[in-house]
Amino acid sequence: VKPIPARIVRAIIEAFREGDKNVRWYVMGDDDTIFFLDNLIGVLAKYNHSKYYYIGSNSEFVKSNIDFSFDMAFGGAGYALSYPVVEALAAKLDSCIERDPQEHFSDYILHSCLADLGVPLTLEKGFHQIDMRNDTTGFLSAQPHTPFLSFHHIDAIDPIFPSMNRSEAINHLMKVAKADQSRLLQQTICYHRPTNWSFSVSWGYSAYIYENIIPRSILCRPLQTFTTWRKEVKLHFYVFNTRPLSSDPCQVPHVFFFDSIEFTQGDEQVVTTYIRKSPRGLPNCSSTGNHSADAITKIQVLSPATTRLEAGGRDCCDIEYVDRTSVTQVKYRPCLKNEVIA
Ligand SMILES: *[C@@H]1O[C@H](CO)[C@@H](O)[C@H](O)[C@H]1NC(C)=O
Ligand SMILES: *[C@@H]1O[C@H](CO)[C@@H](O)[C@H](O)[C@H]1NC(C)=O
Ligand SMILES: *[C@@H]1O[C@H](CO)[C@@H](O)[C@H](O)[C@H]1NC(C)=O
Ligand SMILES: *[C@@H]1O[C@H](CO)[C@@H](O)[C@H](O)[C@H]1NC(C)=O
Ligand SMILES: *[C@@H]1O[C@H](CO)[C@@H](O)[C@H](O)[C@H]1NC(C)=O
Ligand SMILES: *[C@@H]1O[C@H](CO)[C@@H](O)[C@H](O)[C@H]1NC(C)=O
Repeated sequence: VKPIPARIVRAIIEAFREGDKNVRWYVMGDDDTIFFLDNLIGVLAKYNHSKYYYIGSNSEFVKSNIDFSFDMAFGGAGYALSYPVVEALAAKLDSCIERDPQEHFSDYILHSCLADLGVPLTLEKGFHQIDMRNDTTGFLSAQPHTPFLSFHHIDAIDPIFPSMNRSEAINHLMKVAKADQSRLLQQTICYHRPTNWSFSVSWGYSAYIYENIIPRSILCRPLQTFTTWRKEVKLHFYVFNTRPLSSDPCQVPHVFFFDSIEFTQGDEQVVTTYIRKSPRGLPNCSSTGNHSADAITKIQVLSPATTRLEAGGRDCCDIEYVDRTSVTQVKYRPCLKNEVIA
């Protein structure tokens, strides 16, 4: 038996044998993973902890899922097991380990053991394996509408904010996570018709301005700023669609990153400020009327401090822009009934 994977899966059973009272869930994750606990608690609360649940997500990188299984929860992303699942596992695990003594991966041992017991994987897209490298800014700027639960491979990718090292960048994100996890990295899109601009905000992380009206169906696809986890693998396929990088001024955004957070209006409102990373260095998008966004240096996003965003919910927004000023405001508000957006 390979000692390391066996050791990892046995840790789950050892936690179980501690016999703590009223345990509902066991959550496992790698040591290079960050969890967003308020969001995780909220998501797990949707499920009945007295039933059999194995909740996690697979890899973004298609090849990793082919090598292991599309039905396996990747341990870097982290996963949750309900109490009855761990109870059942405690009786079965040794035989699962011995059956496949050469297996290198604890996640695979667990997955096959649970699949044989008849426990399927419940996918939650907020767990992030991050099987990608280099610049993940495009990915983090277009997240699915679901609470952000975990973030893996923080030592394998570039720092997520420009001009910071990895630990500074993670601590910077944590500043905003403390204020409102429900909106963290949730994408909100709105349009400013007088200038033909599209705004896409990933709350607490980035804000993009496009000098063009681009529909949501396109903006929700991450820009492929990142590279593959294993560069020798020729199948550069992900489990979601991406947008290729372009040099067309009507497709390339002006990019701003989260800088600071403050509470205003008697702590009823959160203002997150995003500052320009660098000049875009492209001419105006001329087909939409030559409205340059080059002069904007700062975007302020105003969101409510007291109402959380429901899981899977969306904010809508309005833009307050005064021609040729350097600061633009994006004001979040509840969406209107049947609000037509694009
Ligand atoms: C949760 O599942 C248990 C076991 O199946 C069941 O007895 C209980 O009624 C369920 N609770 C809810 C709130 O559905
Ligand atoms: C991407 O990351 C890998 C390893 O982390 C590094 O070797 C490579 O130079 C990076 N490539 C780019 C284009 O930055
Ligand atoms: C990151 O930057 C901080 C603050 O400048 C510094 O204390 C820390 O040592 C740096 N970490 C690394 C790994 O360079
Ligand atoms: C917006 O762009 C369209 C072409 O896509 C153009 O016809 C229209 O005049 C532009 N509006 C403004 C206010 O510039
Ligand atoms: C935008 O400016 C370019 C270059 O000055 C010009 O050719 C183009 O016709 C302008 N577009 C609009 C819609 O005014
Ligand atoms: C680009 O846009 C700015 C501001 O909207 C305008 O003043 C300038 O003339 C435009 N450039 C061209 C080449 O049209």
